[in-house]
Amino acid sequence: MSTAKTIRWGILATGGIAKTFTKDLLVDPTTRGVKHVKHSVVAAASSSSKSRAEQFLKDVGAPSDAKPYGSYEELVKDSNIDIIYIATPHSHHYQNARLCLEAGKNVLCEKAFTVNAEQARELAKKAKEKDLFLMEAVWTRYFPLSIYVRDLITSGKIGPIARVLADNSMATDPEDAFSDGKHRLVNPDLAGGALLDLGIYSLTWVFQTLYHTQPAESRQPPKVLAALKTYGPTKAADEASTIVLSFPRSDEAGGEAHAVATTSLRVATTPGGKADAPGIRIQGPKGEIQVFPPAFRPTHTRLILKDGTVEDKDWPQPGPGEGSGWYNGFGGGKNAEGEGHGMFWEADEAATALVEGRKEGKYEGLDESILIMEVMDEVRKQGGLTYPEKIETIKYPTQL
Ligand SMILES: NC(=O)c1ccc[n+]([C@@H]2O[C@H](COP(=O)([O-])OP(=O)(O)OC[C@H]3O[C@@H](n4cnc5c(N)ncnc54)[C@H](OP(=O)(O)O)[C@@H]3O)[C@@H](O)[C@H]2O)c1
Repeated sequence: MSTAKTIRWGILATGGIAKTFTKDLLVDPTTRGVKHVKHSVVAAASSSSKSRAEQFLKDVGAPSDAKPYGSYEELVKDSNIDIIYIATPHSHHYQNARLCLEAGKNVLCEKAFTVNAEQARELAKKAKEKDLFLMEAVWTRYFPLSIYVRDLITSGKIGPIARVLADNSMATDPEDAFSDGKHRLVNPDLAGGALLDLGIYSLTWVFQTLYHTQPAESRQPPKVLAALKTYGPTKAADEASTIVLSFPRSDEAGGEAHAVATTSLRVATTPGGKADAPGIRIQGPKGEIQVFPPAFRPTHTRLILKDGTVEDKDWPQPGPGEGSGWYNGFGGGKNAEGEGHGMFWEADEAATALVEGRKEGKYEGLDESILIMEVMDEVRKQGGLTYPEKIETIKYPTQL
C-alpha cells in the first residue's frame, strides 16, 4: 500500500474565505475517500500584524508549530512551504501571486484570478519560466457534482449542448449592506462589482459545460455581447452584468452554441433564498441538466429527458460528520455539524498536481482562466468599466 504524501501549505491573508478554506484543508482527506495526499498547514501571514496571523491559526485549529507571519514577504521566504493559497481581494491577486512566484512558490489563487487578462497572462508566463504550479481556485469545478455534469454532457445523454443559461445573483440591498462603499463588492479600489466576484461563477458554468467539454484541439473562444449596469453610489463597479456568448463548433459537434450568463448584486437567482428553481440550465435536443443554487456551492442536480424521465440527485458535502463538534461555513453562514464546505476538493487537486509534477489544474488550465478573464475584459469594455491604473497594471512591484 502506498503512503499518502503530505503537502505543506502556507496561507496568504486571514479573511473570510482564507478561514473557510483552511478549515476544510485540515479535514482528514479519507472522509472523502482521498488516500494519496494529505494536507498540513505550516504557516499563515497577515498583511496587518503577526498577532492576526496567530489568531487565525488558532481559529482554524492549525497545528501548534504552524508559523504566524506579520507580512506576506516573510511568508514567501519560508522554506517549509510547498504551496501558497492566496485569499486577498482580487485587486491584489496579481501582486501577491507575483510575490509568491518570484520567491519560487507554487500557487493556488482565489477567483477572480486577476483584474484583467493581461495580468493573468503575465502570471502564467512567470509560472512557466520558474517551472511552478499555478491554478485559479475555482473550487466548484472540482466538485463531484461538476464532474458528473461534465460526464453527462460528454456521454451525449442530452445530445450536443445547444444552450446554457447560468445565473449567480446575490439578492442584497447594496446601498444598505455596503453603505460606506468600502466593501469588496462595490469598491473600485478592490476591483469591486458583481462581474468579477459573482459573475465568474455564471461564466464558470458556461465554460465548464460548453467549452471545457469540447476536445482541447478544436475548442474556440466565444463571441461576446454584454450589458453592464454601473452601481450608482460608486459609479465604478457593476451592479449587474448580462452576457450573451456564442461558441463556434463544427457542424458534426452540433454547430454554434449559445449561452447567457447573468449576475446581479440586487436581485435573487431564486427569491426568498429558497433554491427551488435551477440557476443553471444546460439544454440539449434530448433533454436538460439543471443545477440548483447557489452556483458556487450547488448540492442538487436534476436531469430531465425528452421522454419525461426525471432523475434528481443530492450531492452532500463530506466532512468529519455528525457528533464531531466541528463546523465550517462562510460569511456568517454555518453548515451542519461535521459538514465540509467543499473547498478541499480543489486543494486535493492542487496537491495531486504537485505529487504528479503537473503545473496546472486538471479541470481548468491557465489558458481557460486567461480566456475567461478576456471575456470579462470584453464585458467591462462594452460596459465602459475600468478600475484604477494601480490595480490594472502589470508593473511589479506596485504598492497597493
Ligand atoms: N471561493 C469562494 O467561495 C470565495 C468566497 C468569498 C471570496 N472569495 C474570493 O476570495 C478573495 C477574498 O475574499 P474574502 O471574502 O475572504 O475577503 P475578506 O474577508 O475581506 O478578506 C480579505 C483578506 O485579504 C487581506 N487583505 C490584504 N490587503 C487588503 C486590502 N487592501 N483590503 C482588504 N483586505 C486585504 C486581509 O487579510 P490580512 O490582513 O490577513 O492580510 C483580509 O482579511 C476574493 O478574491 C474573493 O473573490 C472566494
